[in-house]
Parts: sequence; structure tokens; C-alpha cells
Amino acid sequence: VIETVKAREIFDSRGNPTVEADVILSDGSLGRAEVPSGASTGDREAVELRDGGDYLMGKGVMKAVRNVNTEINDTLKGVSPFDQAKVDKLMIDLDGTPNKSRLGANAILGVSMAIARAAAQSQGIPLYRYLGGVDIELPQPFFNVINGGVHADSGIDVQEFLLTPVKRDNFRDGVEKIANTYNTLKSVLSKEGYETAVGDEGGFAPKLGSTEAAIEMLYRAIKEAGYVPGEEIAIALDPASSEFYNDNTKKYSFEGKELSSNEMLIYYQELVRKYSAIIFIEDGFSEHDWEGFKKMTEKMGDKIQLVGDDIFVTNPVIFSEGINKKVANSILIKLNQIGTVSESIETIKMARANGYTTMISHRSGETGDTFIADFAVAMNAGQIKTGSMARSERVEKYNQFLRIEEELEGYAKLARFPKK
Ligand code: PGA
Ligand code: ZN
Repeated sequence: VIETVKAREIFDSRGNPTVEADVILSDGSLGRAEVPSGASTGDREAVELRDGGDYLMGKGVMKAVRNVNTEINDTLKGVSPFDQAKVDKLMIDLDGTPNKSRLGANAILGVSMAIARAAAQSQGIPLYRYLGGVDIELPQPFFNVINGGVHADSGIDVQEFLLTPVKRDNFRDGVEKIANTYNTLKSVLSKEGYETAVGDEGGFAPKLGSTEAAIEMLYRAIKEAGYVPGEEIAIALDPASSEFYNDNTKKYSFEGKELSSNEMLIYYQELVRKYSAIIFIEDGFSEHDWEGFKKMTEKMGDKIQLVGDDIFVTNPVIFSEGINKKVANSILIKLNQIGTVSESIETIKMARANGYTTMISHRSGETGDTFIADFAVAMNAGQIKTGSMARSERVEKYNQFLRIEEELEGYAKLARFPKK
């Protein structure tokens, strides 16, 4: 049974405080987990409890830490760690709000993940095996190699330019192909006189001026690294468009223009026509522009993958509304958007039952915790994005897949890109 639940304040990859939780079982097993934090967050995400005031620019999480050490510890003491849904429900009920604002989603998620780890340790099996079934599949990874939006000061409106190894023999082979392309991109950029310092997710942040200029650079890097764009290495975009949508004028402030929802759609259609290596667009429309997102799904959903992130916030209730309205055909899964492991699993199951693909995701503020790698394998999630081939808090997740692949000695299947 659970003996002690304890939290502390640690720091994330942006130097902001975050929660780390420890769960100790009566048999001595320890589970530890660190909580990530987003920058381009959706309005309806579960609440990240911050202290306010002067301490650490108001971003302290000492209240959340205290909630773990007092109320959550008192409630979970003596409870079995092996029924994840039940333990999570105890915390959800204890919190008592619809968005986890009383105890904090950062407090609850840290404990939720740490419990799964402690339970796996107690059974002496890896986390991916504890959380998953028998049919093990390694996901298709997406690497964010150029950073824009609120993740860098590159001045590019699109937040993420991702590469994925469509053709690969195994997970390692895919990572190697991206490592080659990433380093080739670095030399291409510096040859052209651009900066090669990196943004929040480890992608380069050159002042390229436009989306098309960035895509041109990617094509060049893929080719110079010896691969065929679209066939061997494909491209994906996350405009994170809620960040440049004006709720009052209902226009998108994009690349110096004020575009209507319709004009934005035409832009995307032309973009994927011109650059056929693009295989998915995430958050092409704002979380406040469901109509736009729906229309994009009607017009483009049979050709490319359209991922909903800010619009669904991993929330089963909001997502089911999206399913009914036929918005997007894929969903991003971020555990801290909803705040427990079992609710994240519920959303994944809902996606699967309704023909949506799922992509597990890191946050732009990350830690060294590799929980999402194991989680993606356990869920047979199909896809994951966890940053670039730089910054250890990103690369460490990919490294975890290499360890899992080695452990499985070729037994693991490889997820293939399902839509094109
Ligand atoms: P965030 O960005 O972690 O800053 O929210 C990630 C994303 O938009 O996919
Ligand atoms: Zn996103």
C-alpha cells in the first residue's frame, strides 16, 4: 500500500519552479515524477497552481507542494497503488473542482505519475509494461527542429517545424536519420549566415522571416543529408494558431497580414499543395475558432493529419464535443492538460474508438522525466513529439525509446504513419 506521498519544488528547462512528487510504498518501492509546463497553453487546460507574489516572479509552486504533503498524503495513505483509476479518482474528488484548481493539476499529476512508477517498481517490471498490455509498439517520432511562436524569438509565426523519419528499419534508425538531418540543417543555416542557437524545444531559432523560408531550409537539409523529402523524411507543422488569433476581430495576424478564417484555410491548402512533404498540421485554427477547424477538417482531413491540441486540451468531455462536430482527425495528448494518468488514458481510448490518431506530447517547459516515452509505448499511441535532437530534457525521451527497443530485442513493432 501507499505509505507516504511527498513533493518538493524543483526547476524546469526554462528555470521556472515545478513540482516533483515521491510516492513510497510499504514494501519500500519508490516512484518519482516531475511535472512539465506549457507556454502556448489552451484556455481550458487543468489549472497549474502558482503561488503569485514576489517569490520566483510569482511562479512558485509551494502551495501545490503543500497540498501534496498534507491533504493528498492523508487521503492516499494506506490505499493500493495498483488501481490507477481509483487512486486518481480519489484525488479528483478531493480536489472537488472541474479543472483541478483547488489542489492544482501540477500537484495531482506529479502524484498520479509517481504512483504508476512506484507500482511498476513494486512489481519489478518496466513502466511501459506495467501501464501497457502485451502488444508493444514503438511510436512514430516527430522532432521539432525549427522553433518559432512563443518558443523562440525567431520571429516566425508558426511555432513548430517538425521532421519525422517515415522510412526506418527500427526506432534507432529513425533517430539516426533525424540526427543527420538536424546537424545538416545546422550547417546549412550557418552557411547562409543564420544563427544556430536553439529555442525552448531544442530546434534552431533563425530569423528566417516566413513559414515558406523555413520549409525551404528543411527541404534543403533533408536533401543534403541524403534523403528524399516526403518519402524518407516528412515535415509537420504546429502553427499553435490560438497565439496569433484575435478573439475580437476574428482574424489571424499571420506574417504581417490580417487573415480571415477562410483565407487561413486557403493558405494551408496552398502550402500543402506546394510542399507535399507536409503530412500534418496541428492547431491550424484557434481553440476559439471551432468553425474554422471544422472546415479545415472537411477540406483537408482526407489528405493530411489534422491534430487538435489547444482545442481539445486532452479533456474527454471537450474532445467528445469535437468528435461530434467532426473537428480534426487526430488528438495531441499532454498529461498535464488534464492532470491525471487515467484521464489521459480515457481520452486515448476515446480517440481510438472514434478513428482519431493519437500523439503523445512533451511541453515546452520540460524536465528530465521520461515518463511520456514509456507511456507512449504502453498505450500503443502511434506517435510522439518530444522536441529536437538538442537539449537533454528532449533527447532523453528519445534515448528512453532506444533503451526500450534494446530491451525488447526486436520484438517491438513499429508504428507507421497512418494518414497521407
Ligand atoms: P506548449 O507547446 O508546451 O508551450 O503548450 C507545445 C504545443 O503547442 O504543442
Ligand atoms: Zn501544439
